[in-house]
Amino acid sequence: MRINIAIDGPSAAGKSTIAKRCAKLLGYSHLDTGAMYRCVAYKAKQLGIALDDEDKVVEMIDQMTISFDSNGNVFVDGNDVSLAIRTNEMSMGASDVSKLQAVRQRLVKMQQDISKGKGYILDGRDIGTVVLTDAELKIFLVASSEARADRRIKEYIEKGIEFNREEVIADIERRDYQDSHRAHSPLKKADDAIEVDSSNLTIDEVVNVIKAKLIELGVNYD
Ligand code: DC
Repeated sequence: MRINIAIDGPSAAGKSTIAKRCAKLLGYSHLDTGAMYRCVAYKAKQLGIALDDEDKVVEMIDQMTISFDSNGNVFVDGNDVSLAIRTNEMSMGASDVSKLQAVRQRLVKMQQDISKGKGYILDGRDIGTVVLTDAELKIFLVASSEARADRRIKEYIEKGIEFNREEVIADIERRDYQDSHRAHSPLKKADDAIEVDSSNLTIDEVVNVIKAKLIELGVNYD
């Protein structure tokens, strides 16, 4: 039996890492929906469009392409932006454009079109509540802000991106607030989601929690 899996939670809680591991385990496709909001912020900045100008941002979305390859690289209009969208500026920019209702409508539609059928793992903020409300397994992944800041910093070091620790923590807390308090589809645990606090868990331990749920659901994995 193939299912869909929704993984939601605040920034840097480990959603993408866990989603990738589960995709590999199950042979499913992973869609990082946050990357799509980042691509919108990236292109708007490039074109000098204000991130709160809903009409212009939507017009821009209708003329751009966002694509992924099988290694998880992200492309805007065919150009690889995988690294460029991971800066602090693009994190906050993505959170800014994600407040706009018409932007959300466009991206949610793209996400639903991509993940038609079963065998998809989507991670984001509104997957369990809006994008894949009928996902058979919904995980709400949380972690303390300190644990999340440490993980983000490790990622920055690996990717050679410059950072300032205080700024990273402030950015995480600012985005938590903004993503949970916006008017449209705020970050919220779906009623039928399973909450997992990964502050003191390794990646393997989180994956084990998911494996146990897969067994309960009767889903086979290697
Ligand atoms: O997961 P991320 O940090 O790459 O997401 C960047 C921003 O995009 C996040 O601060 C909020 C927004 N986002 C969203 O509103 N809905 C999603 N499904 C995914 C991301």
